[in-house]
Amino acid sequence: EKVIRVGLLGSGTVGSGVVQVLEMNREQITERVGAPIQLKTVLVRDLAKKRPQLAGYQLTDNYEDILNDEEIDIVVELMGGLHPAREYMLQAMEHGKSVVTANKDVVAQFGKDMFAAAEKHGVDFMFEASVGGGIPIITPLKQCLTANKVTEIMGIVNGTTNYMLTKMTDEGCDYDAVLKEAQEKGYAEANPSADVDGLDAARKAAILSSLAFNTRVELKDVSVEGITKITPDDIDYAKSLGYVVKLLAVGKDSPEHGVDVRVHPVFLPKEHPLAAVNGVFNAIFVRGNAIGEAMFYGQGAGSLPTASAVVSDIIDVSRDIVNKAFGRIGCTCYEQKPMCPIEE
Ligand code: NAP
Ligand code: HSE
Repeated sequence: EKVIRVGLLGSGTVGSGVVQVLEMNREQITERVGAPIQLKTVLVRDLAKKRPQLAGYQLTDNYEDILNDEEIDIVVELMGGLHPAREYMLQAMEHGKSVVTANKDVVAQFGKDMFAAAEKHGVDFMFEASVGGGIPIITPLKQCLTANKVTEIMGIVNGTTNYMLTKMTDEGCDYDAVLKEAQEKGYAEANPSADVDGLDAARKAAILSSLAFNTRVELKDVSVEGITKITPDDIDYAKSLGYVVKLLAVGKDSPEHGVDVRVHPVFLPKEHPLAAVNGVFNAIFVRGNAIGEAMFYGQGAGSLPTASAVVSDIIDVSRDIVNKAFGRIGCTCYEQKPMCPIEE
């Protein structure tokens, strides 16, 4: 019987969640795939560090051990950052291994190279967890909504800043204290300025807009403003007028302006559906010319919710391996359509 073997790169917040989900749902996953999935090797930076969640698994600090292991079918990249994550993923595909990642930095900046490598080597490249944590949004855009011409995609796509803004609004919490809390809960990026400066949301907006509008939007094409300038006075002022402050990512495609993608804080009326999205929750609203309006909601960061998306990708790739049907749900890299210029 075929066993699907996985090499895991990184075992932090999301990596340990993946180990936990593969263990707690092992039986059901085997049934769904039609073959067992075995986590064979985990790449860590420091072999001496205590990692009780990885007891019983084979650890290595040398990527070659995973790359050159012919038994490993899928490489799951959960280290984060651009380098060496990008190179490791490309090498994995060159070695005939499919790749699953939660890394929006790489998908937003080097998605083109990743899709091209997957196509060239006849493997899968999957990134459901790169946007919206546990919320299914990449697969719906790649599959379920492709009948539509999408004109707008908008939402709250960063859990850390939404958690911070919610606590600052509802409990009057201090900015630095609540950022520290978000870090302790595992929501924030390794360098949390990516969250508060809006770059994480901008990367996600680039990925969503590329898929929604059949184009290629990169980070440099997104107008970005984070939450660092939001003061307690802004929050009180918004409240007194019946509004809440939210960090929104907005992508629009119109014949007049082309593709326009922005991330910035906004005053939202309390009655607006996105105003009720609180804490680490994210929500993404899509407008298409057949479906009308659709909204996707759930936990946008955190260990198990994000692992839910990663493991679902592992299951999809495993089904492809069992059925010898690679690239079934792959991604096309589109040429860039005219973009609305960014105002300085
Ligand atoms: P994390 O907690 O910082 O974990 C990263 C892990 O990767 C750490 O265990 C780290 O090792 C390891 N690592 C980093 N560089 C490495 C290298 N060169 N070689 C070997 N191991 C290396 O990060 P995370 O929160 O799990 O995030 C992982 C990825 O998921 C990122 O791309 C992030 O943007 C994305 N993501 C995160 C969330 C979330 O809620 N946290 C949600 C969606 C997507 P050490 O233990 O030695 O530091
Ligand atoms: N730092 C990210 C966030 C993790 O807070 O949304 C999920 O991508």
